[in-house]
Amino acid sequence: MARLDVTEKFQGISFPGHLHTKDSLEFAVSFLFKDTDVLIVSYPKSGTTWMQEIVTLVSSRGDPQFSRTVPNWARAPWLEHYYCAAVLEASSPELYSLFCVIYVSRNPKDVAVSFYHFHKIANFLPEPGSFHEFLDHFLEVYYGSWFDHIKGWTSHTEAINNLLHITYEQMSLDLHGTIKKVSSFLQCPLVEDEVNNCVKHSSFSSMRDNNMINYTLVPKDIMDHSKGSFMRKGIGDWKNMFTEEQNQYFESVFTSKMQGCTLEFVWEK
Ligand code: A3P
Repeated sequence: MARLDVTEKFQGISFPGHLHTKDSLEFAVSFLFKDTDVLIVSYPKSGTTWMQEIVTLVSSRGDPQFSRTVPNWARAPWLEHYYCAAVLEASSPELYSLFCVIYVSRNPKDVAVSFYHFHKIANFLPEPGSFHEFLDHFLEVYYGSWFDHIKGWTSHTEAINNLLHITYEQMSLDLHGTIKKVSSFLQCPLVEDEVNNCVKHSSFSSMRDNNMINYTLVPKDIMDHSKGSFMRKGIGDWKNMFTEEQNQYFESVFTSKMQGCTLEFVWEK
């Protein structure tokens, strides 16, 4: 079983060698995008799957037919996984006039908790050990640093007009407004009924019951749903997991690593 502290480097960036290969990362960095492509970028457990569902629904104008019949990895493949190469060729909807990037972030305490639970069901990831051990790795470089990821991507949002930054908390607190923002960013304005249908079909309960997005189609040796579910909780679950001591430690690392960063985070509902 792979250990949490085993990471390899690709072009100076750490990555977990048990999940991606240098070849698959090479494929990702040399991938040629089309003007019509939409790129969803996120650190794991930040709401990636949710945004995949929202973008699918927006491009279908709220009609759930596509999102109910095609698995999310076929409609929004991961660039860094080799097996996605074939699907990538066929997947982009010919809707948009400019290559667009949607960056999704989430408060890092909830990311850490979600990621920890995900390690328990994802057999392709290493055993997470105790939450304490996992948190230590998370605050360092495990899976690449969360801190570098967020600072790297958000430092460009104002300068680049085809990059939209959406947070998990925005989706959670105002899904309707977020969908309108995403649809106008993608130059696909929707009428009110279409927005309402997108909201309905990307709600927590709707996604939890849709096997094209809730990962229950994935074989048990890859994801074992008897150990937990992919769709778990929302904002502020970290409060059920962090001890006072862990929280203080987290805050001190956060304050030092996020120095100079003006982003504001929503930590609870
Ligand atoms: P939790 O583990 O806290 O429940 P990713 O897709 O980046 O791996 O992120 C997964 C997280 O997004 C999980 O968080 C999952 O429950 C949450 N999520 C996915 N769809 C959601 C929805 N419609 N409403 C609220 N949370 C959602």
